[in-house]
Amino acid sequence: MTFLGIETSCDETAIAVLEIEDLEHVSVRSNIVSSQIHLHAPYGGVVPALAAREHAKNIGQVLESALAAAGITDAKKEIDVIAVTHGPGLGPALLVGIAFAKTLAWKYGKPLIGTSHMKGHIFSSWLGGTPIAFPALNLIVSGGHTELVLMQSLNDFELIGETMDDAAGEAFDKVARLLGLGYPGGPVISKLATQGNPDRFPLPRPMLASKDFNFSYSGLKTAVLYLLRDLKERGVEIDDHVKKDVAASFQNAAIEVLIKKTIRAAEQYGVATVLLSGGVSANPLLREELAGAARRAGLACHQPPLAYTTDNAAMIALAGYIEYAYGDSSTDWQSVDMNANLGF
Ligand code: KG4
Ligand code: ZN
Repeated sequence: MTFLGIETSCDETAIAVLEIEDLEHVSVRSNIVSSQIHLHAPYGGVVPALAAREHAKNIGQVLESALAAAGITDAKKEIDVIAVTHGPGLGPALLVGIAFAKTLAWKYGKPLIGTSHMKGHIFSSWLGGTPIAFPALNLIVSGGHTELVLMQSLNDFELIGETMDDAAGEAFDKVARLLGLGYPGGPVISKLATQGNPDRFPLPRPMLASKDFNFSYSGLKTAVLYLLRDLKERGVEIDDHVKKDVAASFQNAAIEVLIKKTIRAAEQYGVATVLLSGGVSANPLLREELAGAARRAGLACHQPPLAYTTDNAAMIALAGYIEYAYGDSSTDWQSVDMNANLGF
């Protein structure tokens, strides 16, 4: 069957076409992502009203590109199901995608499935094409979320841990802003960190010792703020060399907590598999270290291919398929909670 996925929850207008026979036979025919990052960069974060206006401006062209790249000439005939992100995300941005998807579904006469952005991230690991064994523990790390989700099956989710304040990606973004590195922070911090000394500046590992599986990132960001203030007071210039060492020290602290708590939770819940997803899963050190830690603990570890780590619509089309094939595919549009933290 041919699934069209639509994603507009934040600052990417994304549409993808997937051919799905079953979970082991998923082919991404097209995956178009139009990023608005440049538009929001001067503000240091995403501005909802600007995001919505930009989605509305671009979404028609993104659809045309996605259909053309998939070789689709008659969408009404060739598309079987439409899936759209209905939350969580920025309300005005989500509404553009939802209204567009509803109009297309009506025009093509096709079923429309509303799905969660979080499920999209979770299922992005299945885009790797390898069978995944349950129970599985997902570490979702993005700009808005840091969650540990236990899955007994494709439609059985339990939130066992989450951030108490900032998300992991948000911490990367805020530290990058403190270092004057622009937005988004993750890619630039991880690049600088490869050239820095991670042991130069000792930084806290928040909640590493807590018995629960929750996280906290605002204290780590504040520790970097104080570190930079102290360095300046001591007359140390915040040059490229210092920035690289701060980036490496911060990245190590942020990642160590994620990995240790994930593996501890995986062992306590007796899962077979550890999954990583969300924008921060593009981080090379996190990918490598989590895979190594899982291997040493005797666990399988699956991660999305790099193209599907940050926001995209291939993961939404797949989440729509899973809801269509395995779950309750009737979206209750009246009760859609766009700001729900756990949008299952
Ligand atoms: O999943 P995503 O594209 O959007 C949300 O749903 O939030 O995640 C975006 C987040 C941003 O905070 C960005 O800084 C972070 O993912 N990110 C990274 C890397 N690439 C993107 N964080 C750390 N290392 C990276 N290489
Ligand atoms: Zn996301």
